[in-house]
Amino acid sequence: MQELNGSESKGNIGIDDVNKVDLKAHLKVESEINPKRKGPSIMAEGIALHRVVESAKPEGERICYDPYAIRFIRPEFLESFKDPVKAKAAHEQYERLFPGFGNSVRARVRFFDDFVKTALDEGIEQLVILGAGYDTRAYRIEGLKGKVKVFEVDRPETQELKIKKIKEIFGSLPDHVVYVQVDFDIETLGQKLIDSGYDRSLKSLFIMEGLVMYIPPKAVDDTLAFIVENSCLGSSVLFDYFPESVTEGTCEVGRNMKAFAEDKGEPFQFGIKEGTVKTFLAQRGFSQIQNVTSEDYKQAYDQGVNEGRTVSNLLNFVHATVDELNWHILQSTRSKRATICFLESGRIRLEP
Ligand SMILES: C[S@@+](CC[C@H](N)C(=O)[O-])C[C@H]1O[C@@H](n2cnc3c(N)ncnc32)[C@H](O)[C@@H]1O
Repeated sequence: MQELNGSESKGNIGIDDVNKVDLKAHLKVESEINPKRKGPSIMAEGIALHRVVESAKPEGERICYDPYAIRFIRPEFLESFKDPVKAKAAHEQYERLFPGFGNSVRARVRFFDDFVKTALDEGIEQLVILGAGYDTRAYRIEGLKGKVKVFEVDRPETQELKIKKIKEIFGSLPDHVVYVQVDFDIETLGQKLIDSGYDRSLKSLFIMEGLVMYIPPKAVDDTLAFIVENSCLGSSVLFDYFPESVTEGTCEVGRNMKAFAEDKGEPFQFGIKEGTVKTFLAQRGFSQIQNVTSEDYKQAYDQGVNEGRTVSNLLNFVHATVDELNWHILQSTRSKRATICFLESGRIRLEP
């Protein structure tokens, strides 16, 4: 069994660590996987693989570190990476189809890690991880346990496998993590999160890493509305997104990505029109909107030995805070049962 907060361990994670994975148990789950939409998310596994590969690099080179990610990868998948020729071919193929995307995903992991650590220092009291997949922040970021309740939200099939693996790693489920099963395709977050113990009066950070592109536009709207209407002042959201050229497959790389996602049974459903993310979030009741471009994160993380890394300008991150004025209006109108309408112009209209 392992202790929580393994991120502070300095040991490298080798692909040879595949031998530590419980092959039989994993294969049993694997045999139940239907790669077309039913079953645990293939995309979540793919993102965890990026964390495995990055974590295996020397300490001075890796830009993120997740000692648990390896436990979420199918053994036979890891096995193929032990052959350097196959691994190189797979990497080259990936780079041909999705140039720079792998490095952008790894920078995303680092950025979101850093963001959660800063938010902790600034006093967040609840962390809600939507589309958590095999995110291991709750188990490896020091200071969360005992201080911050973490809600992990995902579709049932992915979450069931996650829970099984977490029990295997730590022997039991940590008591600061609450698991909430929501399928955004068919249900909304709100009541389920509240029924699971989410406290509206606490300062919260919501993160959606690699999620919004996979859920319907209405689910994105409903989720952002829930955050605005049910968080205390100072609460915020952090997520990454694709431009519509990717989700609609109208640029060459976008076409490749769209086809890949469809092939895995997890098609894109939502993109943000280029250059409009700030308006998009302002119209939904957020302010202090900070868009983080590929140039920003390359400059932050890809220095020295990593200077030559290419990233993809198709993956950007954005952080936004619940707008104070809007929040006050909402609080005062809630009791009078007025509805606030966000107009295209960015203005607000109150309807009885
Ligand atoms: C690309 S993975 C990212 C996982 C994790 N956030 C990470 O970065 O490692 C997308 C995640 O969103 C979840 N997801 C996709 N569609 C969903 C839906 N309709 N409802 C709930 N979760 C969904 C998947 O199950 C998966 O865990």
